[in-house]
Amino acid sequence: MGKRLEGRLVIATHNPGKLWEMRALLAPHGIEAVSAAELGLTEPAETGGDFRQNAALKARAAAQSANLPALADDSGLCVDALGGAPGLHSARWAEATPGGPRDFATAIEKVEAALRKTGAAPPFRAHFTSALALAWPDGRTENFEGKVFGTLVFPPRGGLGFGYDPIFLPDGFTRTFGEMLMDEKQAIPADGSPALSHRARAFQAFARACL
Ligand code: IMP
Repeated sequence: MGKRLEGRLVIATHNPGKLWEMRALLAPHGIEAVSAAELGLTEPAETGGDFRQNAALKARAAAQSANLPALADDSGLCVDALGGAPGLHSARWAEATPGGPRDFATAIEKVEAALRKTGAAPPFRAHFTSALALAWPDGRTENFEGKVFGTLVFPPRGGLGFGYDPIFLPDGFTRTFGEMLMDEKQAIPADGSPALSHRARAFQAFARACL
């Protein structure tokens, strides 16, 4: 089991949607969460070969710069008929120019167009993955992962959530993540059963080990 977390923690993300969700997940645990943006930290380039490596490099960079433990998430949408794309490049599919502003309506259109091009027929199976990394200022890093499986729906449904939420219909539900309040998408069941979202599932593993 990892060292217990107390006091301040950096949330190593500049993504407002992730920040909001991670703050809400941490709130009941008495941890003071400060964001990388609030501390003026820059984001390292995501040069890792998978979600876990990218999460670790973001968490390590923030922990070293801030001299505080840091929690980072690297996540994405993986579509079976697209060989796992957009996957690691989920954020990039929303950028007209690399590193530029993100427009997820366009990213969602790109996913639909790519699916059409393959000739695949619905149901379009997909999953979200969240890799969480907790890094300590001395460089030690712990990794946790969560996934949620479902299908993609077009046209997008719902204006809640962020990113690809309006096209993701989790298995066993009739509403997309874009039609769910954060409390439902991110709920951590009190009886220890698995949470719904990929990030909440990864968070459950992190909380068991560190909180
Ligand atoms: P990155 O982890 O910063 O590379 O960005 C991951 C991208 O995946 C985000 O910008 C979103 O587009 C997408 N993504 C990750 N988690 C979610 C989620 O919970 N809902 C919708 N989109 C997500």
